[in-house]
Amino acid sequence: MNAGVRTGSVQRRECQAIGIRVKRDAENTSGNPDLSRRDRGVPDPAAEAAEKGVLYHPWVDFTQPEPASWQPAADPPALRTGEVHLWRTQLDVPAEQLPALESVLSAAELARANRFLFEHDRRRFVAARAALRSILGRCTGTDARAIEFSYSALGKPGFAGAWERIGIRFNLSHSHALALIAVTRERAVGVDVEYLGRNVSHEAIAERFFSDRERRDLASFALALRKRAFFDCWTRKEAFIKASGEGLFRGLTTFDVSVEPGAGARQLTVRNDPEDASRWKLLALEPALEFTGAVVVDGRLERLTCFEWT
Ligand SMILES: CC(C)(COP(=O)(O)OP(=O)(O)OC[C@H]1O[C@@H](n2cnc3c(N)ncnc32)[C@H](O)[C@@H]1OP(=O)(O)O)[C@@H](O)C(=O)NCCC(=O)NCCS
Repeated sequence: MNAGVRTGSVQRRECQAIGIRVKRDAENTSGNPDLSRRDRGVPDPAAEAAEKGVLYHPWVDFTQPEPASWQPAADPPALRTGEVHLWRTQLDVPAEQLPALESVLSAAELARANRFLFEHDRRRFVAARAALRSILGRCTGTDARAIEFSYSALGKPGFAGAWERIGIRFNLSHSHALALIAVTRERAVGVDVEYLGRNVSHEAIAERFFSDRERRDLASFALALRKRAFFDCWTRKEAFIKASGEGLFRGLTTFDVSVEPGAGARQLTVRNDPEDASRWKLLALEPALEFTGAVVVDGRLERLTCFEWT
């Protein structure tokens, strides 16, 4: 979709794509009742999840885009080239579970955990690292404790030494009490998640870090949608710079992502390098109520399957 052109029906589709939270915002400000899918007899899993007070679990596949539950972690299928396995995990774990999680971490990771000022940050770091190690252990059929990581000059973690030859790639993101871990085979991958309740001065950040086109597209949204569109844009940009491994060293204004809110495939354009743009696949995610996210993978993405790590 050309995000630069906004019509009434495009705005409506955006609202439907966003799900209940933003729909309610839009209804409150516009009073437009036809934004509710259920009023028109269309199933709305996000609304149903909100009513039940449970997380909304989208399952994203380019051929079958309808949402479904994240699958329990017990028996994930083998990871094939062209697939992404996306794991979601809650980071606010009870104190009694901590010793078991800490026992999975390396001495360096424990030392890093102990440098956090606040206990809740320490716990979340431990929970995220333990989940990462355990998931990668399962993918590679090895003891989570035995895994060795190496870090690129810009901080991107990967497998160290002989582990690298297994061909499994991964990336991790955490925000608030949620982490996402993306795992691929032979494909660079980046993932990002953001808590939508985070208090940031989104206009100032967009002004500083977003491209001209992204800022123009953001400005075309109604105020009620703009903060959500900002977070969507942010996570997509972060997922790309994490996939490329360049972090903030890649100028954030050297590429554009489409800011259209909601889950699904989105456009990523690397300016002055059309080949680079066609290399990467960008998928917007709605990983849970109150969170947005994105995953970017190098090359073809045939299927993304979501798993819950507990
Ligand atoms: C470090 C960075 C790669 C991501 O940081 P972030 O979005 O704050 O944090 P996330 O939780 O999503 O990602 C952190 C994880 O990414 C991984 N990571 C670190 N450096 C990375 C790199 N260069 N490339 C890919 N992944 C990286 C690590 O696993 C890290 O987890 P850890 O801290 O537990 O070791 C980098 O992009 C950054 O500093 N961003 C700042 C955010 C910002 O200012 N954005 C501007 C608006 S677009």
